[in-house]
Amino acid sequence: MSPAFPSAPPTLGLLGLFSLLLLLYLPAAQGACNIPPEIPNAKPELNSLTSFPVNSTITYKCNEGFVKIPGKSDSVVCLQSNKWSKLSEFCNRTCNVPPSLRFASLKKQFSKQNYFPVGFTVQYECRPGYKRDNSLPAKLTCLQTSMWSNPSEFCKRKSCSTPPDLLHGQVSVTSDILLGSTITFTCNEGYRLVGAHDSQCILMDKNVVWSDPHPECTEILCHEPPKIAHGGIKETQDSYKYGSSVTYICSEGFSLIGEKSIHCTIKDEQGEWSGTLPECKEEASLLDKRICHQWQKKLLCWSQQQLKNQPQQMLQQLMLQQPMFHQQGRPMLQKLQQPMLQQPMLYQQRPVTLKLQ
Ligand SMILES: *[C@@H]1O[C@H](CO)[C@@H](O)[C@H](O)[C@H]1NC(C)=O
Ligand SMILES: *[C@@H]1O[C@H](CO)[C@@H](O)[C@H](O)[C@H]1NC(C)=O
Repeated sequence: MSPAFPSAPPTLGLLGLFSLLLLLYLPAAQGACNIPPEIPNAKPELNSLTSFPVNSTITYKCNEGFVKIPGKSDSVVCLQSNKWSKLSEFCNRTCNVPPSLRFASLKKQFSKQNYFPVGFTVQYECRPGYKRDNSLPAKLTCLQTSMWSNPSEFCKRKSCSTPPDLLHGQVSVTSDILLGSTITFTCNEGYRLVGAHDSQCILMDKNVVWSDPHPECTEILCHEPPKIAHGGIKETQDSYKYGSSVTYICSEGFSLIGEKSIHCTIKDEQGEWSGTLPECKEEASLLDKRICHQWQKKLLCWSQQQLKNQPQQMLQQLMLQQPMFHQQGRPMLQKLQQPMLQQPMLYQQRPVTLKLQ
């Protein structure tokens, strides 16, 4: 019922409300920032954050086709004043990493770089095996299109030494004798190639050199010509070169059958005698005129020539002993042992004694 009482509750109520508001606003008073500012060509990396208390840091990432300018900051911090720190534009258009060139490499100072704004130039140096062509600039420029200018061939392939001639052969240069090219070797007819068939101009210890030494062209020779029975070679030589020929002749009393000459030809890079060998056959006339006589189970034979030279007496004596075989030709001779046929010279020059079969 006292008038002081009714006024008291409202006072208390206001105080209570104020305390409540104070309690509610206390976190805000500790400080927070709004969403991070917009920066051209970049996006903040929020990582699903929704509140940004004082001292929190947000980093930006450049958009596709843009690269961070080296030395420029890419993050903002929420200050005590509940404001974000200042961040200036830090992304710019850039060319890609400069192209790798077959003949040149980027100078070291540019190799670690990834920011190449429009108008930027990068310098190259020649790779080993290439030499500088001073009439062309050894650099590329990042164009408005964010593309590099087209590289001219400012480093040219180095040249290997002029290959010397190949004795008894040819060196063929297909295109040129610059780095990467190949030369081929061939030998003249009658010569065999011993060694490499080609050689490349390659890089070795920063120099350009031929990969293989010149081969040798060695003369292709034939072996000694084959021997033939009852004959031989008219003129023997120390060696028989490709294309040379030899002529056979027969021993006295033998006739040559077939081609008298053979030629040194080439087969599979080896010397080979051509054709078939001639044969020396005992002259039929001589055989037919041979006269044999059986005597003490042996057969004595003379050629007509020998008979002429025999003293007439001796001949008569022989003829008396036994009936003499006047040889009519081959059938008779075939009865004789082989040795007689194989040694006709003896047979011809003096009486030969042969056992009858
Ligand atoms: C923010 O960082 C500063 C310096 O490190 C420090 O003095 C201050 O108390 C920090 N403030 C908050 C709200 O963490
Ligand atoms: C971006 O690159 C262009 C061309 O090099 C330059 O003019 C411009 O100043 C650069 N922008 C910034 C923010 O550095």
